[in-house]
Amino acid sequence: MMKTEFLGLRMKTPVMAAAGPWSRDGESIRRLIKAGAGAVVTESVVSDTLLDVRPRIAYDGMGAQNIRLYSDIQIEGWEREMEIAKSAGGVVIASISAHTPSELAYLATKLEKFGADAIEISVSNPMWESLEVMASNPETVFEMTKEVVSNVKLPVIVKLSQNTTNISSVAKAAKKGGASGVSAINTIRCILSVDIETGKPSLATYGGYSGGPIRPLGLASVATIAQTVDIPICGIGGINGYENALEYIMLGASAVQVGTAIMLRGPDALTEIIEDLQRWAEEKQIDSVARIKGKALRNLKSFDEIKIEPATSTASGVPCTADCTLCIHTCMYGAISKNDGNIYVDKELCTGCGLCTFVCPAKKLKLDW
Ligand SMILES: Cc1cc2nc3c(=O)[nH]c(=O)nc-3n(C[C@H](O)[C@H](O)[C@H](O)COP(=O)(O)O)c2cc1C
Ligand code: SF4
Ligand code: SF4
Repeated sequence: MMKTEFLGLRMKTPVMAAAGPWSRDGESIRRLIKAGAGAVVTESVVSDTLLDVRPRIAYDGMGAQNIRLYSDIQIEGWEREMEIAKSAGGVVIASISAHTPSELAYLATKLEKFGADAIEISVSNPMWESLEVMASNPETVFEMTKEVVSNVKLPVIVKLSQNTTNISSVAKAAKKGGASGVSAINTIRCILSVDIETGKPSLATYGGYSGGPIRPLGLASVATIAQTVDIPICGIGGINGYENALEYIMLGASAVQVGTAIMLRGPDALTEIIEDLQRWAEEKQIDSVARIKGKALRNLKSFDEIKIEPATSTASGVPCTADCTLCIHTCMYGAISKNDGNIYVDKELCTGCGLCTFVCPAKKLKLDW
């Protein structure tokens, strides 16, 4: 087993289920625990529940937009849901969301009493009325975190947003407020698409963007926090396979959460990621997250540190009989040609930009550097 210790909670895997409708009540949380989740974060609990709007989730084959907001179960109802959830024997983290520190603290104390193992403060919902998500204001995050931390004994995680100019300063504010960890990222404010015949956007208001396309943003957020703040991090955003979980861990996360993949493929998606990660860890004889955590940070330089070395680098081509001309069109410098089933790269014209090596579906091009 790949041992994981996150916020003092011993988990059998670093892969958790994120907050969302797939963890909306006791039964759905039980299902995710049975699917193997290291921990499950509940859909965000709030003090004023509203009826769901319809429709509220859109998907374009790559990413999803949602305007689901939060749990439709009243805080009192969570006593029973938590009991059902905990009966599966797993770790359950209660997510809470509110506009004021005292409201948050109230929800946290209730959920602590109901048996939650930790609290995740979701101050990063991209759909509140205000354009500025709460998680973009370090002072607000500090006040909210401090109030919750001083009212519960449980570990407190603050869930951060990428919708901010400086995620480090927000993570620092969470730490100063007493948070035991941060999770990043929540969904990102978006409009998925517009129907050009009717002029209607995919959903009736701005929503949160999730799934594969946000993973590069999540990875950068986690790396930035890991490089600037000494606090345990849970990586979230676009995880759809065990490799993605490893990317987050290698950039400094101690654990990860999966959301949209469960929404699109069911709890089996979680089981697949967990089992594949376990298989990889056994093959590589890696028995704990600590052994690989932050491995990629050593190779992550600031732009100023990058040396233009070697002075020249060129791509090299190979025999290629595929009915394809992708690399030829991609090369903005006109360096690639194809003749008699061979790819030629003109060393005089190639500037070593690297793009063709990523574009070739057959991985036939290599950059010598
Ligand atoms: C339909 C939907 C509902 C969500 N509800 C919540 C929520 O109640 N609280 C919260 O903190 N995050 C919520 N999220 C955000 C996810 O927990 C997660 O941070 C985000 O989707 C990015 O991860 P993913 O790309 O794996 O989905 C929701 C996401 C989706 C798609
Ligand atoms: S590395 Fe860039 S410049 Fe060189 S052949 Fe490939 S695409 Fe063209
Ligand atoms: S992109 Fe790859 S497969 Fe396509 S022509 Fe170039 S080398 Fe061949």
